[in-house]
Amino acid sequence: MSAFEYRDCTLYCEGVPAGELVAQFGTPLYVYSRSEIVTRFREFRSAFAALDPLIAFSVKSNGNLSVLRLLADEGAGADIVSGGELYRARLAGVPAERIVFSGVGKTVAELAAALEAGIYAFNVESAGELRELEGLGEATGVAAPIALRVNPDIESPTPHAYTRTGHRETKFGIPIEEALRLYRAAARTTGLRVRGIDVHIGSQILEVAPYVLAVQRVLEVVDELRREGIELEFIDVGGGFGIPYEGEPGVPAAKFGEALVPLLRETGLRVVLEPGRYIVGPAGVLLTRVLYIKDMGEKTFVITDAGMNDLLRPSHYASYHRVAPAEQHPERATITVDVVGPICESGDFLALDRAVEQPREGELLVIGEAGAYGFSMASTYNARPRPAEVLVDGENARLIRRRESYEDLVRGEVECL
Ligand SMILES: Cc1ncc(COP(=O)(O)O)c(C=O)c1O
Repeated sequence: MSAFEYRDCTLYCEGVPAGELVAQFGTPLYVYSRSEIVTRFREFRSAFAALDPLIAFSVKSNGNLSVLRLLADEGAGADIVSGGELYRARLAGVPAERIVFSGVGKTVAELAAALEAGIYAFNVESAGELRELEGLGEATGVAAPIALRVNPDIESPTPHAYTRTGHRETKFGIPIEEALRLYRAAARTTGLRVRGIDVHIGSQILEVAPYVLAVQRVLEVVDELRREGIELEFIDVGGGFGIPYEGEPGVPAAKFGEALVPLLRETGLRVVLEPGRYIVGPAGVLLTRVLYIKDMGEKTFVITDAGMNDLLRPSHYASYHRVAPAEQHPERATITVDVVGPICESGDFLALDRAVEQPREGELLVIGEAGAYGFSMASTYNARPRPAEVLVDGENARLIRRRESYEDLVRGEVECL
């Protein structure tokens, strides 16, 4: 059962009504369910339990320290993509040996910090990055542990082109032939320790077949390297496991496990997985208040106090998020509206042409499945302080990030007077 459900027409998160959360913490408000995060993490882990994998939670999906700490306590590692995410992960208590570092544009300073921290592996995305790591390894006397992220050249079925990363036309990964050359060269250096191989084909994938295809391509590389005497220790299959956004049944992690476990077990390699959305997406919602209802004849706009700066996904990826009143009134008619924010952009919307219970000014709306790539993509555009975040555990709600203030907005700016 989801942690967010209606009881007598009132939305609850675990044991706390949405209205109480808002009375205490205001809107817009990100609300996460502790039990849902833990349950989803355990469900994911059990789907791959036969492999005893390192589950490196993708920090970019939700980097709140309390969320990271909760997952680290469950045994998760971290998939990071920046020095800032390394800082977050370490501060939250993720052991360095459970951290993998992905991303196409790591700076030398970021590489050096991660090497010094003693992370498990760098998922290297270019010859240039490999060269920098080799130099660092030689200079420090600590060989940099590396995996090459290969580009398997497959079209992954994600809902938006921006979240496809497995084909040649993207900036991600290294073509297979080049990866083989780089492995051979890396194996001869003292500055690098060849440790694994990595692939990540995209995000919000609801099919098993593309993963199987990607892993098969990667395993051909593993076999070739083996024939040449280059032994790897791990294979990282990346993240991207999708969730249902429109209330459809979705694909349980077990389905991915059933297809991938036999394939991966055969290799004898340690397995790394980098889920983000699957763990936290359905474990969070965004609560927002209706400011105004504006009838423009052609269209009715429901103007909320949350905008694209708070939840970017609808305008950036044309993503679907469920929108519903926090207090249901079954007697109300259903009307079709655009749910839009206060930002001065026509692209500022949470939902377009959406059938909703006739909203009223002042009431609370819930935006579903907002636990992943919600707060982590939030900005202060239009000089809007970012929302607060709350973690609910049974009857208790804990503020895990306070709402930003106007002072926060200008902190760091040099004196202008
Ligand atoms: C390298 C890498 N790993 C893991 C993830 C996590 O993806 P998801 O949250 O869809 O599981 C991403 C996200 O795009 C990524 O770029």
